[in-house]
Amino acid sequence: MSIQDQIKAELKARNAVLVAHYYVSGDLQTLAEESGGFVSDSLEMARFGQNCDADTIIVAGVKFMGETAKILSPEKTILVLDEAATCSLDEDCPIDEFSKFCDQHPDRKVVVYANTSAEVKARADWVVTSGSALTVAKHLRKQGEKILWAPDKHLGNYVQTQTGADMLLWQGSCVVHERFKADALQTLKGKHPEAAVLVHPESPQAVVDLADVVGSTTALINAVRDREESTFIVATDNGIFHKMHEVAPHKKLIEAPTMGAGADCESCAHCEWMAMNTLDNCLDVLKTGKNEILIESSIAKKAQQSIQKLLDFTA
Ligand code: 13P
Ligand code: SF4
Repeated sequence: MSIQDQIKAELKARNAVLVAHYYVSGDLQTLAEESGGFVSDSLEMARFGQNCDADTIIVAGVKFMGETAKILSPEKTILVLDEAATCSLDEDCPIDEFSKFCDQHPDRKVVVYANTSAEVKARADWVVTSGSALTVAKHLRKQGEKILWAPDKHLGNYVQTQTGADMLLWQGSCVVHERFKADALQTLKGKHPEAAVLVHPESPQAVVDLADVVGSTTALINAVRDREESTFIVATDNGIFHKMHEVAPHKKLIEAPTMGAGADCESCAHCEWMAMNTLDNCLDVLKTGKNEILIESSIAKKAQQSIQKLLDFTA
């Protein structure tokens, strides 16, 4: 039996579903869809997990995605494929320091990106994702609220520029998106003047400035599917190419450059933590039940309120 068939059989036996992010390997994404699971961005992964009636959710992604699933579905068993698969934004925002920062600015609404720990989410008034940050910031600005934003300084800067909201920014960053280089991208654009440039807003401002479309992973995939151009330069994790090729098989996709001054590799555009998700550890986790996500209930309850606010707001 192929490993895919073994995983499908284990999923069935456990009444489990496989939920995957667009950045994990194509074989896991295909398997998630073929087995009745789901592939999406971090916001819709969370919503699917909450609404599905499986007993167990297998999360192919990174730790914060598993924690979000557990917070929203405390009665379900949540297993991640590798417990060490984290995120630099989450790591850059330890709860003790963050809590002190919040205490120093009690006049601001605390808005945190989904790429954070359960403890940080519990300290927040709102949790947002890249697909919802602008809408929430606009809403808060209308209400006359000032924002304390964490952890991604680039996404925070983008939201501030787009909405004019008063935002105080924590200084975290994504190690993958931070490596995209504006100068090299400008040169590449010159070689492909027909191409549209798609950029995830975790990228530096100078890269965002060169974009035709800035948005969440879902927004960038939809742009490839819906826009007229036949060539796209893509500044986000290259795991996304799997879905982009699927929705628009005849379109040409080019990785945005990560080389240039200050870069330590030619093309770093893949998250090392997303890459820890494999078919082998998926089967292992299903067989052993290891890597279960558990969250202290008082933390989970507080975090649930700020995530649920987002899900209701974006429903
Ligand atoms: P999305 O919410 O756009 O899927 O992004 C999650 C992420 O980790 C991007 O690096
Ligand atoms: Fe975190 Fe960046 Fe990896 Fe996304 S790509 S999980 S933001 S390190």
